[in-house]
Amino acid sequence: PTVPPHASDSLAVLEKSRSTAETFGIPLAVLLEITHRCPLQCPYCSNPVELDRSGKELTTEEWKKVLSELAEIGVLQVHFSGGEPTARKDLVELVKHASDAGLYTNLITSAVLLTRERLSELADAGLCHVQISFQGVEEGIADRVAGYKNGHRKKLEVAKWTRELELPLTVNAVMHRQNLHQLPDIIQMSIDLDADRLEVANVQYYGWALKNRAALMPTVAQLDECTRIVEEARERLKGTLAIDYVVPDYYALRPKKCMGGWGRQFFNISPAGKVLPCHAAESITGLEFESVRSNHSIAWIWQNSDAFNRYRGTGWMKEPCKSCEFREIDFGGCRCQAFALTGDAANTDPACALSPLHETIFKQAEREAEGETNRFLYRNFAGGTLESGNDA
Ligand code: SF4
Ligand code: FES
Repeated sequence: PTVPPHASDSLAVLEKSRSTAETFGIPLAVLLEITHRCPLQCPYCSNPVELDRSGKELTTEEWKKVLSELAEIGVLQVHFSGGEPTARKDLVELVKHASDAGLYTNLITSAVLLTRERLSELADAGLCHVQISFQGVEEGIADRVAGYKNGHRKKLEVAKWTRELELPLTVNAVMHRQNLHQLPDIIQMSIDLDADRLEVANVQYYGWALKNRAALMPTVAQLDECTRIVEEARERLKGTLAIDYVVPDYYALRPKKCMGGWGRQFFNISPAGKVLPCHAAESITGLEFESVRSNHSIAWIWQNSDAFNRYRGTGWMKEPCKSCEFREIDFGGCRCQAFALTGDAANTDPACALSPLHETIFKQAEREAEGETNRFLYRNFAGGTLESGNDA
């Protein structure tokens, strides 16, 4: 049977909408970066190099509207993050609002600004889970990496309060060349703190972290040892501690499926209300991101905005991704890393061995890993930079 012209038109429209609305349903979990302000100065910060100033942050009422809208369109979980989310005075009010809207709430924090009283208010407001980042297992290295005195001691205290308040705890340990030797102790620390989950998160190198790559990049031998330790601990601690493991993809042959693929499973909202396909997306110049302050709904932005559709699926790919059998498995790796290392986000992520740039870039990283540079270029919110060498 022949298809009448109007029917084929509507088929085309349906096909088009399927490429967005139907195929890419609203994600179940959303990251809310409620502020970029942060008392720590981590040299591996993954937030964009240009941070949103506090005057641009969404107001309490605007965040509440966002939270209600997210619950309405089917989001189930929100992660309050930053910067440091506890730097916002209205955090308890926002958690309460999210909770009342039926959302599961997680707090991703460095913990150094929390008091027991405030944590208890957050628990009363309905907070469901706490994730605390650690920079090591002892004050010397942990405080030096964070650029914050007595931070480590404070984190241990807050972790203890978290469990006393019967909130589930995740330890997020950011690993690199200067602290990987502490991994067995970090696993033990997580057990002692009664954490449910440990994230062994090797640093990824875009944003600020790229400036400190030479001081952070692990050696191949360190990474092999790290993988061995994680595998052994996973087996030994089954049922006690779940361990997530993120490897730096510089040493892999194929890149990670970053964000589960651009615009497929994830979005986050920046302090100023931009809806972003990943937390580092603003590091890609030339992309315009829609704001929750615009006339568009969040669902419309997710489904239709140019930034989400630019690298969605496989249609945008160049060679070698374009004709590669893995293109629907890793979606060409990480767009932010491709941009940071090649200047074009549509290039194959150089973490892939098939990228023509892989050899050059990754040989250089390997040399850096074998080098002696331990000096950090710290990130600080006032816009300045501080340096610290081996003896700081
Ligand atoms: Fe993935 Fe592209 Fe590499 Fe193929 S060429 S493995 S699709 S990044
Ligand atoms: Fe942005 Fe990978 S961090 S796509």
